[in-house]
Amino acid sequence: MSSDIYQPPKDIVSRTLTTKDQYDALYAQSVNDPEGFWKEQAKRIDWMKEPTKIKNTTFEYPDVSIKWFEDGELNVSVNCIDRHLKDRADETAIIWEGDEPDTDEHITYAQLHRRVCRFANVLKELGVKKGDRVTIYLPMIPEAAYAMLACTRIGAVHSVVFGGFSPEALAGRINDCDSAVVVTADEGRRGGKTVPLKANVDEALKHAHGVEKVLVVENTGNDIKMKGGRDVWWHEAATGVDEFCKPERMNAEDPLFILYTSGSTGTPKGVLHTTGGYLVYTSLTHEVTFDYKQGDIYWCTADVGWVTGHSYILYGPLANGATTLMFEGVPNYPDASRFWQVCDKHKVNIFYTAPTAIRALMGAGDEYVDGADLSSLRILGSVGEPINPEAWEWYNKHVGRGKCAIVDTWWQTETGGFMITPLPGATPTKPGSATMPFYGVQPEILDQEGNVQTDTKAEGVLCIKDSWPAQMRTVYGDHKRFVSTYFETYKGYYFSGDGCRRDEDGYYWITGRVDDVLNVSGHRMGTAEIESSLVAHDKVSEAAVVGYPHDVKGQGVYCYVTLMSGEEPSEELKKELRNWVRKEIGPIASPDLIQFAPGLPKTRSGKIMRRILRKVAENDFGSLGDTSTLADPSVVDDLIENRANR
Ligand code: WT7
Repeated sequence: MSSDIYQPPKDIVSRTLTTKDQYDALYAQSVNDPEGFWKEQAKRIDWMKEPTKIKNTTFEYPDVSIKWFEDGELNVSVNCIDRHLKDRADETAIIWEGDEPDTDEHITYAQLHRRVCRFANVLKELGVKKGDRVTIYLPMIPEAAYAMLACTRIGAVHSVVFGGFSPEALAGRINDCDSAVVVTADEGRRGGKTVPLKANVDEALKHAHGVEKVLVVENTGNDIKMKGGRDVWWHEAATGVDEFCKPERMNAEDPLFILYTSGSTGTPKGVLHTTGGYLVYTSLTHEVTFDYKQGDIYWCTADVGWVTGHSYILYGPLANGATTLMFEGVPNYPDASRFWQVCDKHKVNIFYTAPTAIRALMGAGDEYVDGADLSSLRILGSVGEPINPEAWEWYNKHVGRGKCAIVDTWWQTETGGFMITPLPGATPTKPGSATMPFYGVQPEILDQEGNVQTDTKAEGVLCIKDSWPAQMRTVYGDHKRFVSTYFETYKGYYFSGDGCRRDEDGYYWITGRVDDVLNVSGHRMGTAEIESSLVAHDKVSEAAVVGYPHDVKGQGVYCYVTLMSGEEPSEELKKELRNWVRKEIGPIASPDLIQFAPGLPKTRSGKIMRRILRKVAENDFGSLGDTSTLADPSVVDDLIENRANR
């Protein structure tokens, strides 16, 4: 099945923006003459000062430096809003679909302009200036878009923290970027439940001391505590502020936002993106990869707390003057037909979601999707993890009815936008493969020793040879960490952290992370983060966390826990530890399986041999490999005997 090739659907090819020949020609130009290619592409956005310097980048270790369009000046909110007012003031910019099926709102570009300007003026009144960091901890309500765009209007740098993160995780992120202002809501709503956002902020601020103002959006209207002098209601602050706010002139390389993401070690990294290159790249990739045409209704189901929401709910689509749908809810509320009902209700043409959602809905039964009309759909996207061919085929048949193009987009928080992806009218697809590189992207497959694989057919780690405009510029406050994480192991290349296979046709197949990063339901989790939360529990002496294959989530979280002496293993304690991790990090990090292990497999120098732990967690202990370097090989027998995944 997975060797099948699907040609682009005829109806798509007949009106596509990009044919196969055009892709081939433009791709060749983009890598042979990046300066020329990107100078031309930069014209797709409005500059206050046009850039004359296009590309100034080096991956040379340790002097990595990345600058695009460095003498250009622009404002992101002007590109996402003001420039569309002339032709499309009364067209819908954002369709908001609430958690409950009967709630929605259409926000025109003119309305968006006024609301973002007012939001920007309120931020200014709270003392926010160009370059200041603003933490945004909001549910999927229109105010999240207003707040982000308002930051860009005044040159503030937003750091959006996903509403599912715990107070502890929120506090860490506020502290790391020294945010003096936090924007939140009384509560969020998701799948019929409420999320106590403001209470979480109150809790976080016990550990985050630099915060002076908390701006609170009234959402559910339920009672919350407001702290005098610190907490401000948005609707009160907004009365009387001007409906126009002058946009700040920003340099192309001024910071646009910080977004925290998990790595293989340490605390989450503040991925820093800048202004010009990011906007050029996200708008171009949005248009080309989704074959987007004016008037299309576009829906990306992500949360704005992730990079997908930044690049492909807000910035890319709005820079293109699109109608972008923002959904507050979840795929299975009130039932598993919700996505398809929303597609029919709003006549969605382009739909972009994650394999974990597809698998969950596939598991719920075909009747939920087969009853929907879905004739408006043209393009279906996938992102977050490798999509298994079975889920791809189901998506194609039951959602796409065999008539849609499927784009499996490989990219990362760090890359800012799509890197490897089919184009709907140009690229024949193979279920499970992200297919071919986007313009300007030069993937290379390297072996463990760093040798570039020159044969078409190859397997190894995925690196990128040269910079692209939306690449992250640094880890906020820690450039050394940026250089060592991405550029030290494979000198001269950007190292993605993913394993990859290239087939005889030159198609790329991502095989998953090669580092200690898990991908749970498309969310990235560092094993080190979960381990350090476990060992912070007073009954735990040591912990090691690995991933294992999970039918719906892609990967599940498997924790090996060694208890303090005198502590007894019990089901009760497992429950306690599970709740502990949920509280420390957030529900997305919740352990699926916990195994109490009297000892962990370590080398004589004390390094935990994760290879063995992964094998046991996968229930595949026939091939453990060499265990002779273990300090105490007998711990392995106990691990196998008491394995939790049978
Ligand atoms: C990691 C990045 C980029 C937005 C969502 C996740 C995995 C992402 C795919 C795909 C195979 C994928 C990779 C990558 N990944 N998309 N289409 N096929 N793997 O962003 O949290 O930064 O995670 O997600 O492992 O490295 P992120």
